[in-house]
Amino acid sequence: MCGIIGYAGKNQAAPFILDGLAKLEYRGYDSAGVAVVGSDGNLAIEKCKGRLQVLKDKTQGGELIKGSVGIGHTRWATHGEPSDINAHPHISMNGKVALVHNGIIENYIDLKKTLSENGYEFKSDTDTEVVADILDFYYKGNPLETIQKVIKMLRGSYTLVIIFEGITDRIYSVRKNTPLIAGLGKTGNFVASDIAALVSHTKDMYLLEDDEIAEVSSEKINIYDINLNPIKKDIFKVDWDINSAEKEGYDHFMLKEIHEQPRAVRDTISSRIDENNEIILDNINLDYDYLKDVDRVYILGCGSAYYVGTAAKYAIEKSCGIPVEVDLASEFRYRFGENIRKMNPNFKGAKRESRVNKNTLVILISQSGETADTIAALREVKKYGARTLSIVNVVGSTIARESDDVIYTRAGQEVAVATTKALTSQLSVVFLLAEYMARKMGFVPDADLLDALKKIPEQIEELNKSEGKIKSYAERFKAAEVAFFLGRGIDYPVALEGALKLKETAYIHAEAYAAGELKHGPISLIEDGTLVIAVATQDDLYEKMISNIQEVKSRGAQVLIITNEGNDSAEEAGDIVYYVPKTHQLLTPLLSVIPLQQFGYYSAVMRGCDVDKPRNLAKSVVVE
Ligand code: G6P
Repeated sequence: MCGIIGYAGKNQAAPFILDGLAKLEYRGYDSAGVAVVGSDGNLAIEKCKGRLQVLKDKTQGGELIKGSVGIGHTRWATHGEPSDINAHPHISMNGKVALVHNGIIENYIDLKKTLSENGYEFKSDTDTEVVADILDFYYKGNPLETIQKVIKMLRGSYTLVIIFEGITDRIYSVRKNTPLIAGLGKTGNFVASDIAALVSHTKDMYLLEDDEIAEVSSEKINIYDINLNPIKKDIFKVDWDINSAEKEGYDHFMLKEIHEQPRAVRDTISSRIDENNEIILDNINLDYDYLKDVDRVYILGCGSAYYVGTAAKYAIEKSCGIPVEVDLASEFRYRFGENIRKMNPNFKGAKRESRVNKNTLVILISQSGETADTIAALREVKKYGARTLSIVNVVGSTIARESDDVIYTRAGQEVAVATTKALTSQLSVVFLLAEYMARKMGFVPDADLLDALKKIPEQIEELNKSEGKIKSYAERFKAAEVAFFLGRGIDYPVALEGALKLKETAYIHAEAYAAGELKHGPISLIEDGTLVIAVATQDDLYEKMISNIQEVKSRGAQVLIITNEGNDSAEEAGDIVYYVPKTHQLLTPLLSVIPLQQFGYYSAVMRGCDVDKPRNLAKSVVVE
C-alpha cells in the first residue's frame, strides 16, 4: 500500500528519494516523508500530511535536507489518521534509529507495552514507531544483529528501510510478506517497494525474499538470511521502460491505459497463438496426464482480478466441464486449511481428504503479484499439494515466484489505481487458457475462438475511437447518485466490473446484480430516474435480459443497454443502446467492459474526482 524507497550513494539522497516517491505515489498518497543521515551522523527528517508536492515544496525538492544516504515514504494510512505526526519516517525516542514501513505490525500493542515499561514514550498512533523504538532499545552498535533480533519479535507484514545515527554510508532493509527490491546503480544503490521507483536509474535488481536483510552502501549490496549468512542472488533484469510511468499527453493515466488496451491484449496473446491456431503455453505444466485427474479448479483473486476469475469460471466450465469455484482470496484463506475440522482417527468409514489436494488446480489472478490475501491463499493451498498457476502482470513478483506455473500478462506497468489494461489482458489469458485446457483434455478445438481473439485488439481500438458517445452519456447521468448494473452469464462479471469502476473513480454508489436476482430485492430500489446499465451480449440470454430491462423501465429507470451489433430490438427496451462489435460469445467481456471503463472514467472527470488516485484507495493492497 505504502511506497518506500532508500538510497545510499555518492549524490544527495533527498532529491533522488523525492523523484522515486513520485513514481510510487499511486501506492498511497495521504502523507509523505524523507529522512537522511547527515555527514555529521545526525538523522534529519521532514514529513507532512498531504500529497508529495507538499513535501517537495517544504524541502525545495529535497535540497534543504543534506546527506547521501536516506529513506522516503508515501503513506496509505492504516494505524492512525493521515497527519504530520503519523507520517513516516518514524524516529526512535532516543533519536538513534529512523525507518519507513510498509505493512502492518500485528503485535505492536504488546511491543508498545514492553517499551513503555522500559521508559519509552510515543508521539504517533502508528504501529511503525514501535519498531523504531524496539530497534533503538536493542541497538548496541551492530545494525545487522539488531535487525535480526527484532524481526524475530515482529508479527504481521513489513518492508522496513532503516537508517542509524552515526552510520553515514549505508541503509538496511528487510521484508516479510510485502515486496522489497534492491537496485544496483552507477552513482549509488537503492531499495524500494516497487520496481517502478527504480527503473529510470537501473535495470539490474535483486528481488528479496521474506526474512532476507539487505545492507546497502554506495559500493555494494550485501544480502543476508535470517541467521546473517551472506546470500548470493542472481540479478533480475527488468525489461520494461519508464515510459509507462509517464502520461504521454493524456489527461490521466486511466485514460492512457484504456487506450493502451489494444496493445496490451495484442502483446499478451500474439506470441501464444501460432499461424496454425495452436496455443503455445510452453512454460506451463498442464498436460493431459495431469488434467485428466483434476477434479476441481479454484480461482482466487481480489477486486477486479476476482471478477476476471468469475468470467474464467464460465469459460473453463463451458470448455472443459471441470467444476470451478471462484473465491475472494480474503475469504478463501480463512475457510480452508487449518480451519477445517479434523477427521476422527477412530472413524471406520472412508476418510475424507481436504477439499484441496494434488487433483486441485488453483489459479491465482493478480496484476501486482503482491496482494496480501492472494499470496496468503497461494501459500495455504500449496501446503495441501495443489498445483498452482498464476496469471500475473508484474514479472518477478511474489505470486509469480511462488506459484508452480505463471502466465504473464503483458499489459506493461499500470499506474492508475482503477485497473483497465491489466484486466483485459487477464481476460485474454483466461480465455486462452480455457481453450488450451479443453484441447489437452480431448475436446474439439474451437478455432473460431482464436480467430475472434486475434481480432479483439482492433475491435477495442474501434471502441476507443467512439468514446465520445460514452462521454456524452456520462455528461447526461453525471448527477446520478446511484446506479445498478445488470448482466446474466458471462455478462455478470462485466456488470460487477462496471459497477466497481463507477464507484471507485466517480464515487457513485453502484451495485451489480445477476439480472435473475433483480426480483429478489433490488427492484424495490428502482424509482423514477434510477440509472440502470444492462449488459446483454449473450444470445441465449438476450431475451431474458430484455424482459428484466422492461421490468426496471416500467418502474421509471433510465436504462443504458450495452449489446452486440445487430440486436436492434434493444432500442425499444432501453433509453440508450450502445453497440459493441460482434465476437465469439465467450469473448464478449473483452469488448463490453470497454464502454463501462470509459463511463467510469468520464463520470469521474465530470464530477471533478481525482481519477488516478481515488480517495482512500491504493493500487497494491499489501495488507489484509
Ligand atoms: C486493488 C486495485 C484493483 C485490483 C485489486 C487486486 O484494489 O485497485 O484494481 O483489482 O487491488 O490487485 P491485484 O494486484 O492482485 O490484481
